[in-house]
Amino acid sequence: MTRHLQLTESGKLKHFLTIEGLSKPLLTEILDTAESFVDMSEHQVKKVPLLRGKTIINLFFENSTRTRTTFELAATRLSADVLNMNIATSATSKGESLLDTIRNLEAMQVDMFVVRHALSGAAHFIAQQTAPHISVINAGDGQHAHPTQAMLDMFTIRQHKKQFEGLKVAIVGDILHSRVARSQILALNTLGVTDVRVIAPKTLLPADVTSMGVTALHDMNEGLNDVDVVIMLRLQKERMNSAFLPSESEYFRCFGLSEAKLKHAKSDVIVMHPGPINRGVEIASSVADGSHSVILQQVSNGIAVRMAVMSMAMQSQGGAA
Ligand code: CP
Repeated sequence: MTRHLQLTESGKLKHFLTIEGLSKPLLTEILDTAESFVDMSEHQVKKVPLLRGKTIINLFFENSTRTRTTFELAATRLSADVLNMNIATSATSKGESLLDTIRNLEAMQVDMFVVRHALSGAAHFIAQQTAPHISVINAGDGQHAHPTQAMLDMFTIRQHKKQFEGLKVAIVGDILHSRVARSQILALNTLGVTDVRVIAPKTLLPADVTSMGVTALHDMNEGLNDVDVVIMLRLQKERMNSAFLPSESEYFRCFGLSEAKLKHAKSDVIVMHPGPINRGVEIASSVADGSHSVILQQVSNGIAVRMAVMSMAMQSQGGAA
Protein backbone atom coordinates (compact mmCIF):
# COMPACT_ATOMS: atom_id res chain seq x y z
CA MET A 1 0.00 0.00 0.00
CA THR A 2 2.68 2.48 1.10
CA ARG A 3 4.98 1.24 -1.65
CA HIS A 4 2.43 2.04 -4.35
CA LEU A 5 1.56 5.32 -2.69
CA GLN A 6 5.14 6.55 -2.75
CA LEU A 7 5.98 5.44 -6.29
CA THR A 8 4.64 6.52 -9.68
CA GLU A 9 3.33 3.88 -12.09
CA SER A 10 6.77 3.77 -13.71
CA GLY A 11 8.41 3.11 -10.32
CA LYS A 12 9.81 6.61 -9.71
CA LEU A 13 9.83 8.24 -6.29
CA LYS A 14 6.75 10.44 -5.86
CA HIS A 15 6.52 10.67 -2.07
CA PHE A 16 9.23 9.57 0.38
CA LEU A 17 7.40 8.12 3.38
CA THR A 18 9.31 4.99 4.35
CA ILE A 19 12.22 2.81 3.21
CA GLU A 20 9.89 -0.21 3.37
CA GLY A 21 9.19 -1.66 -0.07
CA LEU A 22 11.80 0.44 -1.89
CA SER A 23 14.28 -1.45 -4.05
CA LYS A 24 18.07 -1.51 -3.86
CA PRO A 25 18.35 0.26 -7.27
CA LEU A 26 16.08 3.07 -6.06
CA LEU A 27 18.01 3.55 -2.79
CA THR A 28 21.25 3.50 -4.80
CA GLU A 29 19.80 6.13 -7.17
CA ILE A 30 19.15 8.39 -4.15
CA LEU A 31 22.77 7.92 -2.98
CA ASP A 32 24.19 8.52 -6.47
CA THR A 33 22.04 11.63 -6.97
CA ALA A 34 23.16 12.95 -3.58
CA GLU A 35 26.77 12.39 -4.63
CA SER A 36 26.29 14.86 -7.46
CA PHE A 37 25.16 17.52 -4.96
CA VAL A 38 27.93 17.06 -2.38
CA ASP A 39 30.60 19.06 -4.19
CA MET A 40 28.17 21.94 -4.70
CA SER A 41 28.48 22.99 -1.05
CA GLU A 42 32.13 23.88 -1.78
CA HIS A 43 31.14 26.20 -4.65
CA GLN A 44 30.88 29.97 -4.22
CA VAL A 45 27.34 29.88 -5.63
CA LYS A 46 25.66 26.95 -3.86
CA LYS A 47 22.56 26.86 -6.07
CA VAL A 48 21.10 24.96 -9.01
CA PRO A 49 17.81 25.92 -10.68
CA LEU A 50 16.25 22.42 -10.51
CA LEU A 51 13.23 23.45 -8.41
CA ARG A 52 12.92 27.09 -9.53
CA GLY A 53 9.29 28.18 -9.32
CA LYS A 54 8.34 25.36 -6.92
CA THR A 55 6.90 26.03 -3.48
CA ILE A 56 7.83 23.80 -0.56
CA ILE A 57 6.29 24.03 2.90
CA ASN A 58 8.14 22.67 5.94
CA LEU A 59 5.44 21.44 8.31
CA PHE A 60 7.15 20.56 11.58
CA PHE A 61 4.67 19.63 14.30
CA GLU A 62 7.56 18.36 16.44
CA ASN A 63 10.88 20.02 17.39
CA SER A 64 13.89 19.66 15.15
CA THR A 65 17.29 21.26 14.62
CA ARG A 66 19.10 19.20 11.98
CA THR A 67 16.24 17.90 9.82
CA ARG A 68 14.33 21.18 9.47
CA THR A 69 17.36 23.34 8.73
CA THR A 70 18.94 20.90 6.27
CA PHE A 71 15.60 20.48 4.44
CA GLU A 72 15.37 24.29 4.24
CA LEU A 73 18.95 24.62 2.99
CA ALA A 74 18.43 21.78 0.51
CA ALA A 75 15.28 23.40 -0.92
CA THR A 76 17.00 26.81 -1.11
CA ARG A 77 19.99 25.29 -2.92
CA LEU A 78 17.57 23.76 -5.44
CA SER A 79 16.14 27.31 -5.94
CA ALA A 80 12.67 26.47 -4.58
CA ASP A 81 10.60 28.93 -2.56
CA VAL A 82 10.46 27.59 1.00
CA LEU A 83 8.04 28.42 3.75
CA ASN A 84 8.59 27.26 7.33
CA MET A 85 5.25 26.95 9.10
CA ASN A 86 5.51 27.84 12.75
CA ILE A 87 3.04 25.34 14.16
CA ALA A 88 3.11 26.92 17.63
CA THR A 89 1.72 30.18 16.20
CA SER A 90 -0.49 28.60 13.49
CA ALA A 91 -4.26 28.05 13.65
CA THR A 92 -3.54 24.45 14.75
CA SER A 93 -3.31 25.92 18.25
CA LYS A 94 -6.92 27.18 17.81
CA GLY A 95 -8.19 23.67 17.15
CA GLU A 96 -7.86 23.43 13.34
CA SER A 97 -7.51 19.80 12.25
CA LEU A 98 -4.45 18.52 10.40
CA LEU A 99 -6.59 17.90 7.31
CA ASP A 100 -8.02 21.44 7.32
CA THR A 101 -4.52 22.90 7.71
CA ILE A 102 -3.38 20.84 4.71
CA ARG A 103 -6.42 21.83 2.60
CA ASN A 104 -5.72 25.52 3.27
CA LEU A 105 -2.03 25.23 2.42
CA GLU A 106 -2.91 23.28 -0.73
CA ALA A 107 -5.04 26.22 -1.82
CA MET A 108 -1.80 28.27 -1.96
CA GLN A 109 -0.52 26.17 -4.92
CA VAL A 110 2.06 24.22 -2.97
CA ASP A 111 4.20 21.58 -4.72
CA MET A 112 5.67 19.72 -1.74
CA PHE A 113 5.12 19.21 1.97
CA VAL A 114 7.98 18.16 4.26
CA VAL A 115 6.29 16.75 7.35
CA ARG A 116 7.45 15.93 10.87
CA HIS A 117 4.80 14.76 13.30
CA ALA A 118 4.70 12.98 16.66
CA LEU A 119 2.09 10.52 15.34
CA SER A 120 3.20 7.47 13.35
CA GLY A 121 1.49 7.55 9.95
CA ALA A 122 0.96 11.32 9.78
CA ALA A 123 3.01 11.83 6.59
CA HIS A 124 1.33 8.80 5.00
CA PHE A 125 -2.10 10.25 5.88
CA ILE A 126 -1.21 13.60 4.31
CA ALA A 127 0.11 11.89 1.16
CA GLN A 128 -3.21 10.07 0.80
CA GLN A 129 -5.20 13.27 1.19
CA THR A 130 -3.26 15.77 -0.93
CA ALA A 131 -3.78 16.62 -4.61
CA PRO A 132 -1.91 14.28 -7.01
CA HIS A 133 0.68 16.89 -8.10
CA ILE A 134 1.91 17.40 -4.49
CA SER A 135 4.83 15.34 -3.11
CA VAL A 136 5.08 14.54 0.60
CA ILE A 137 8.41 13.86 2.28
CA ASN A 138 8.41 12.25 5.72
CA ALA A 139 10.81 14.09 8.05
CA GLY A 140 10.05 11.72 10.95
CA ASP A 141 6.70 10.33 12.12
CA GLY A 142 6.35 9.08 15.69
CA GLN A 143 8.19 5.82 16.25
CA HIS A 144 7.59 4.71 12.66
CA ALA A 145 10.07 6.09 10.12
CA HIS A 146 12.70 8.72 9.37
CA PRO A 147 13.70 7.75 5.83
CA THR A 148 15.87 10.75 4.88
CA GLN A 149 17.87 10.29 8.11
CA ALA A 150 18.44 6.64 7.16
CA MET A 151 19.55 7.62 3.66
CA LEU A 152 22.01 10.26 4.87
CA ASP A 153 23.38 7.62 7.23
CA MET A 154 23.73 5.16 4.30
CA PHE A 155 25.43 7.90 2.30
CA THR A 156 27.94 8.49 5.12
CA ILE A 157 28.64 4.76 5.47
CA ARG A 158 29.22 4.43 1.71
CA GLN A 159 31.51 7.48 1.76
CA HIS A 160 33.76 5.77 4.31
CA LYS A 161 33.39 2.08 3.55
CA LYS A 162 32.80 2.22 -0.26
CA GLN A 163 30.41 -0.78 -0.31
CA PHE A 164 27.75 -2.32 1.92
CA GLU A 165 28.38 -6.01 1.31
CA GLY A 166 30.42 -7.63 4.09
CA LEU A 167 29.99 -4.80 6.62
CA LYS A 168 29.22 -5.41 10.28
CA VAL A 169 26.99 -2.69 11.72
CA ALA A 170 25.91 -2.23 15.35
CA ILE A 171 22.98 0.00 16.32
CA VAL A 172 23.07 0.73 20.04
CA GLY A 173 20.50 2.12 22.44
CA ASP A 174 16.80 2.87 22.48
CA ILE A 175 15.71 0.76 19.50
CA LEU A 176 12.17 0.41 20.88
CA HIS A 177 11.24 4.06 20.45
CA SER A 178 13.47 4.84 17.46
CA ARG A 179 12.05 5.65 14.03
CA VAL A 180 15.66 6.15 12.92
CA ALA A 181 16.68 2.58 13.83
CA ARG A 182 13.68 1.10 11.98
CA SER A 183 14.54 3.02 8.82
CA GLN A 184 18.26 2.27 9.11
CA ILE A 185 17.66 -1.48 9.50
CA LEU A 186 15.43 -1.54 6.41
CA ALA A 187 17.98 0.46 4.39
CA LEU A 188 20.96 -1.62 5.54
CA ASN A 189 19.18 -4.90 4.74
CA THR A 190 18.06 -3.64 1.32
CA LEU A 191 21.54 -2.39 0.43
CA GLY A 192 23.14 -5.75 1.27
CA VAL A 193 24.38 -5.58 4.89
CA THR A 194 23.71 -9.02 6.36
CA ASP A 195 25.34 -8.49 9.79
CA VAL A 196 23.23 -5.88 11.58
CA ARG A 197 23.31 -6.10 15.39
CA VAL A 198 21.12 -4.19 17.78
CA ILE A 199 22.56 -3.76 21.28
CA ALA A 200 20.29 -2.61 24.10
CA PRO A 201 18.76 -3.60 27.43
CA LYS A 202 15.77 -5.93 26.95
CA THR A 203 13.41 -3.11 27.96
CA LEU A 204 14.54 -1.01 24.98
CA LEU A 205 14.17 -3.66 22.27
CA PRO A 206 10.87 -4.44 20.45
CA ALA A 207 9.65 -7.98 21.25
CA ASP A 208 9.80 -8.97 17.55
CA VAL A 209 13.13 -7.27 16.81
CA THR A 210 14.81 -10.34 15.28
CA SER A 211 12.05 -10.53 12.65
CA MET A 212 13.50 -7.23 11.36
CA GLY A 213 16.63 -9.04 10.12
CA VAL A 214 18.97 -8.21 12.99
CA THR A 215 20.77 -10.02 15.81
CA ALA A 216 19.79 -8.80 19.29
CA LEU A 217 22.53 -8.52 21.93
CA HIS A 218 22.65 -7.13 25.45
CA ASP A 219 26.40 -6.88 25.97
CA MET A 220 28.40 -4.05 24.39
CA ASN A 221 31.78 -5.78 24.34
CA GLU A 222 30.29 -8.79 22.55
CA GLY A 223 28.12 -6.69 20.22
CA LEU A 224 30.88 -4.29 19.18
CA ASN A 225 33.34 -7.08 18.42
CA ASP A 226 34.91 -6.46 14.99
CA VAL A 227 32.23 -4.02 13.76
CA ASP A 228 32.87 -1.53 10.94
CA VAL A 229 30.16 0.92 11.95
CA VAL A 230 28.61 1.85 15.31
CA ILE A 231 25.41 3.88 15.33
CA MET A 232 24.52 5.28 18.75
CA LEU A 233 20.96 6.33 19.59
CA ARG A 234 19.57 8.78 22.12
CA LEU A 235 17.22 7.63 24.88
CA GLN A 236 13.86 8.89 23.56
CA LYS A 237 12.54 10.02 26.94
CA GLU A 238 9.66 11.91 25.33
CA ARG A 239 8.26 8.56 24.11
CA MET A 240 8.77 6.65 27.39
CA ASN A 241 5.58 6.33 29.41
CA SER A 242 7.17 4.35 32.26
CA ALA A 243 10.59 3.62 33.78
CA PHE A 244 12.70 1.69 31.26
CA LEU A 245 16.05 2.12 33.04
CA PRO A 246 17.41 2.14 36.59
CA SER A 247 19.39 5.39 36.03
CA GLU A 248 21.27 7.28 33.31
CA SER A 249 24.63 6.63 34.98
CA GLU A 250 23.91 2.88 35.08
CA TYR A 251 22.82 3.06 31.44
CA PHE A 252 26.08 4.79 30.46
CA ARG A 253 28.11 2.22 32.38
CA CYS A 254 26.48 -0.69 30.50
CA PHE A 255 25.51 0.78 27.10
CA GLY A 256 27.28 4.14 26.75
CA LEU A 257 30.00 4.23 24.11
CA SER A 258 33.35 4.86 25.81
CA GLU A 259 36.83 4.69 24.32
CA ALA A 260 37.41 1.40 26.16
CA LYS A 261 34.31 -0.25 24.65
CA LEU A 262 35.13 1.11 21.18
CA LYS A 263 38.42 -0.83 21.24
CA HIS A 264 36.39 -4.00 20.56
CA ALA A 265 35.46 -2.66 17.11
CA LYS A 266 37.68 -2.64 14.01
CA SER A 267 40.53 -0.13 14.10
CA ASP A 268 38.92 1.90 11.27
CA VAL A 269 35.41 1.83 12.78
CA ILE A 270 33.22 4.88 12.20
CA VAL A 271 31.00 6.21 15.00
CA MET A 272 27.65 7.67 13.99
CA HIS A 273 24.74 9.32 15.78
CA PRO A 274 21.65 10.93 14.21
CA GLY A 275 21.59 13.58 16.96
CA PRO A 276 20.73 15.22 19.19
CA ILE A 277 23.51 13.62 21.27
CA ASN A 278 23.37 13.38 25.05
CA ARG A 279 26.99 13.40 26.18
CA GLY A 280 27.70 11.12 29.11
CA VAL A 281 24.38 9.29 28.65
CA GLU A 282 24.76 7.23 25.45
CA ILE A 283 28.18 8.49 24.31
CA ALA A 284 31.33 9.82 25.98
CA SER A 285 32.41 13.28 24.83
CA SER A 286 35.84 11.95 23.91
CA VAL A 287 34.19 9.49 21.47
CA ALA A 288 31.66 11.97 20.08
CA ASP A 289 34.51 14.40 19.32
CA GLY A 290 37.13 11.73 18.61
CA SER A 291 38.87 10.63 15.43
CA HIS A 292 36.35 7.84 14.65
CA SER A 293 33.34 10.15 14.86
CA VAL A 294 31.56 11.14 11.62
CA ILE A 295 28.60 12.71 13.42
CA LEU A 296 28.98 16.18 11.91
CA GLN A 297 29.64 14.71 8.45
CA GLN A 298 26.23 13.07 8.75
CA VAL A 299 24.70 16.51 9.22
CA SER A 300 26.51 17.94 6.17
CA ASN A 301 25.49 14.95 4.06
CA GLY A 302 21.88 15.54 5.08
CA ILE A 303 21.74 18.55 2.76
CA ALA A 304 22.86 16.61 -0.33
CA VAL A 305 20.64 13.62 0.43
CA ARG A 306 17.59 15.84 0.98
CA MET A 307 18.36 17.69 -2.26
CA ALA A 308 18.42 14.31 -4.00
CA VAL A 309 15.09 13.15 -2.56
CA MET A 310 13.33 16.45 -3.27
CA SER A 311 14.61 16.75 -6.83
CA MET A 312 13.78 13.10 -7.61
CA ALA A 313 10.24 13.50 -6.25
CA MET A 314 9.63 16.67 -8.27
CA GLN A 315 11.13 15.10 -11.39
CA SER A 316 8.76 12.15 -11.16
CA GLN A 317 5.89 14.66 -11.11
CA GLY A 318 7.30 16.16 -14.34
CA GLY A 319 8.16 19.29 -12.39
CA ALA A 320 11.92 19.60 -11.94
CA ALA A 321 13.67 21.86 -14.46
N1 CP B 1 18.31 13.50 13.56
C1 CP B 1 17.27 14.32 13.74
O1 CP B 1 16.16 14.03 13.30
O2 CP B 1 17.53 15.47 14.43
P1 CP B 1 16.49 16.65 14.67
O3 CP B 1 15.44 16.14 15.61
O4 CP B 1 17.28 17.80 15.23
O5 CP B 1 15.88 17.00 13.34
